[in-house]
Order: sequence, then C-alpha cells, then structure tokens
Amino acid sequence: MPRFDTQKVCLVTGGASGLGRATTINLAKYGNTVVIGDLNEEAGRETVAEIKAAGGSAHFQLLDVTDRKSVEAFVGEVVDRFGRLDCAVNNAGVEGERHNVADYPDDEWQRVIDINLTGVFTCMKHELKVMSAQGSGSIVNVGSTGSLRGIGLMSAYVSSKHALVGLTKSAALEYAARHVRINVLCPGGFHTPMSDRLYKGDFSGILAGTPMGRIAPAEEIAQVIVWLCSDEASFVTGAAYQVDGGRMAGPVLPG
Ligand code: NAI
Repeated sequence: MPRFDTQKVCLVTGGASGLGRATTINLAKYGNTVVIGDLNEEAGRETVAEIKAAGGSAHFQLLDVTDRKSVEAFVGEVVDRFGRLDCAVNNAGVEGERHNVADYPDDEWQRVIDINLTGVFTCMKHELKVMSAQGSGSIVNVGSTGSLRGIGLMSAYVSSKHALVGLTKSAALEYAARHVRINVLCPGGFHTPMSDRLYKGDFSGILAGTPMGRIAPAEEIAQVIVWLCSDEASFVTGAAYQVDGGRMAGPVLPG
C-alpha cells in the first residue's frame, strides 16, 4: 500500500461534481486539506459537509475559472487561509455541444476553450506563482483520452484537451528545476454526471472499445490524481497519464 502524503494544502477546481468531487474526497481521506472551487455552490458545500462529517478538512469557495479575478481571489483565499498551496488539480471542464466543424457555433467554441483551456492556463498562472516561491508543488491538469485522439462532433472539446498536453509539458520544463511537478491526466470510460450526459445511459459503444470491459467509478481515476499529487510521484513531471482501462492502447478486434 503506497504511503501517501498527509496534511498538504490542495485545491480542486470543479470539485463539486464527478471526478473533481471524487478527487476531493480522496485527498481529504488521506489527511490533506482540500479547497474546492466551483460554480456550483450547493453541491460544493455538500461535498465539504460530507468530508467534515467524516473528520476531514475541506473548504468551499465560489469560482468561475473563466473570470481572472475570481481565479486570483480563489488561489489568494487558499494561501491566506492555509498559508501555502502544495497541490492543485485543474479539473473544471465542460463537454460542449456536438456539431461538425463547419457548423460549430463560434460562441460555443469560445465557451469551451475559455473553460477547458484558458481556465486552466489562468489557474496555473496563479498556482505557479505560489508554488515557485515555495520551491515545491504538484499540479495535475485533467485532460481526457480526447487529449490524444479525435472524437467526432467534439472538436472544441478535443482541441482544448489536446492543448492541455502542450501547456502541461511546456510548464513542466519551465518549473522542474524549481521543484514544481506538472502532469496531465488523460482519463476515459468512467462514470460522472458528464459521462451520463455524453452517453445518455448507453455505454455499449464505450464498453466495446475498452479492453477491460467495464466503466470505472470516478474514484478509480481519482486515485491516480491523488498519487500524482503525492511525493510518491516525486520523479514524475511533464507526463500525460492514460487511465482508461486500455482504450488508448488500440482497438479490440474480434477473436
Ligand atoms: P462534471 O460535469 O460532473 O463536473 C464538472 C465540474 O466543473 C462541475 O462541478 C461544474 O460546476 C464545474 N465547472 C464547470 N465550469 C466551471 C467554471 N467555469 N468554473 C468553475 N467550475 C466549473 O464533469 P466530470 O466528468 O467530473 O469532468 C471533470 C473533468 O474530467 C473535466 O475536465 C472533463 O473534461 C474530464 N473528463 C471527463 C470524462 C468523462 O467521461 N466524464 C472523460 C475524460 C475527461
């Protein structure tokens, strides 16, 4: 059983739902203090209450990752309240509408890029200022298997998630000598409200392309994020981690 670090100060964007919520609960379970930033105040406060009821330490702050002042206030609140920032999980994201490229509405394209890509960039700017001054830290950006391959009708989402790989690798190079590790998780095939919206209850297509033959609970993906945050992953930076039951290894052909 790995020895995860405890009593680190962590933030999770989009921590009110799905993968962010599972990550928040897992980080708190290992004794870390977690600050959730999310647009969904009600669900965020519910998650905090659940963690506190289990004896953990958590805090909620309203956050819109597309609003630079909101991001600055969020990271500032974490540091003011807890004195440091050890781990940041930039997880908030949206799937966007589905259209062919020629028909993709400009405003919807911009909304997806603003949240999934520019939102992560803005969060990283503020997180990295704190972490580089500390001389330590771990950032995990949440990409997707759509960071590594196309998905028809989802060009805005896929473009934003591909760009996260480049952003992560560039930043990892810049901050490695300052002891800040930066990685991107590329998960796929797990249950959250987003995947329920995407697959509308029919997971047969995704199951067929998943060698492990099952859809994972969000907690199983969250465990890898917790590990990447921890000192157990002390030599891991600039990496794009596939956590997808084998989907990206290639197609499964009939025997
Ligand atoms: P979700 O829809 O359950 O949760 C997303 C959270 O982000 C929500 O709490 C939402 O309020 C928050 N959020 C959205 N816009 C925001 C903004 N502007 N500012 C602050 N918070 C905002 O989605 P899920 O599935 O948990 O997704 C989490 C991450 O995992 C996303 O980045 C997503 O792209 C990625 N992912 C999800 C997959 C899936 O099948 N569910 C597959 C691969 C990646």
